[in-house]
Amino acid sequence: MEQLIKSIGQEVRAFAITSKESLENFRLKFISKKGLIPSLFEELKGALPEEKKKLGKELNELKQLAEGKYRSAQEETENTTDKPHEGIDLSLPVIPNKLGNQHPLSLTRYRIIEIFERLGFNLADGPEIEDDWHNFTALNFPPNHPAREMQDTFFIEKNPDVLLRTHTSNVQVRLMKKQSPPIRSIMPGRVFRNEAISARAHCFFHQVEGLYIDKNVGFADLKQTLYSFAQEMYGKDIKIRYRPSFFPFTEPSAEIDISCLICKGKGCNLCKHSGWVEIAGSGMVHPNVLRHGNIDPEEYTGFAFGMGIERVTQLLFRVNDLRLYSENDIRFLRQFRPVLS
Ligand code: PHE
Repeated sequence: MEQLIKSIGQEVRAFAITSKESLENFRLKFISKKGLIPSLFEELKGALPEEKKKLGKELNELKQLAEGKYRSAQEETENTTDKPHEGIDLSLPVIPNKLGNQHPLSLTRYRIIEIFERLGFNLADGPEIEDDWHNFTALNFPPNHPAREMQDTFFIEKNPDVLLRTHTSNVQVRLMKKQSPPIRSIMPGRVFRNEAISARAHCFFHQVEGLYIDKNVGFADLKQTLYSFAQEMYGKDIKIRYRPSFFPFTEPSAEIDISCLICKGKGCNLCKHSGWVEIAGSGMVHPNVLRHGNIDPEEYTGFAFGMGIERVTQLLFRVNDLRLYSENDIRFLRQFRPVLS
């Protein structure tokens, strides 16, 4: 019997009580009237008188061990439940999880990419830290052009010049060198200019460059491509106009304006009371630029444009101050959701 008391003692210690159910099983097995410990007490009655005292003592210790374990486990399991949903009201509204949302400039960039992808353009990329050749010289900028001045461009090193690109046009010649025509790509990215910050200007902003080079590409292709883009972006009623302009790397060149959606043409701060907002510079790629990209201008022609993402966004979401985009004011940033076309 002594052996039996010992082995039941081991069983009591090893028994894992993890739930109300196992607690009850423990009670039934060891403590309840028909359990192992009371049955040992029954057996004790028939034990030899000289052994009774010793065995009785051991049995009482076993009983205390089992009851002690039962009580402490009972306290522990009191607050837990075998059914995880018990006590939870599943009809209560969820605690709101604050999701971030995309920056308005990202939303616009994705839309611009999506529209041009549908028009057959693919996506290309170029560096923000650029050499003089790709940002200026290859694009036909004369040596004394004002953009090469320290007060207009952020130079990182001089002689040889390393700078922060002033436009996404730096990718044009890189792309021409990598790929022979047809080229039909857009290149979104950040650009930098040494300008005083105001509602209309910033020292960095974003552009999307477009480049289309193939046989027989003409100015009509440029006009229709950007008109289709404007209609997709702003709706069929949007008005667009081309103003003759000058860029060293395009000939002829034109600025592209669209009707001001903030004041609907009445005149406001953004459109400088003209009713029109400039969204891009554009033109036919200059033959010298094609030559710098190892493309024969007798065989191929192309158009290029550089569109300001901030401007496109301002008209899309009616934002009238450029500084809001980079101030990280959560009250501003929370207001934007994708605009579905
Ligand atoms: N790079 C010019 C700018 O930043 C825009 C442009 C791009 C003009 C391509 C013509 C062709 O103002």
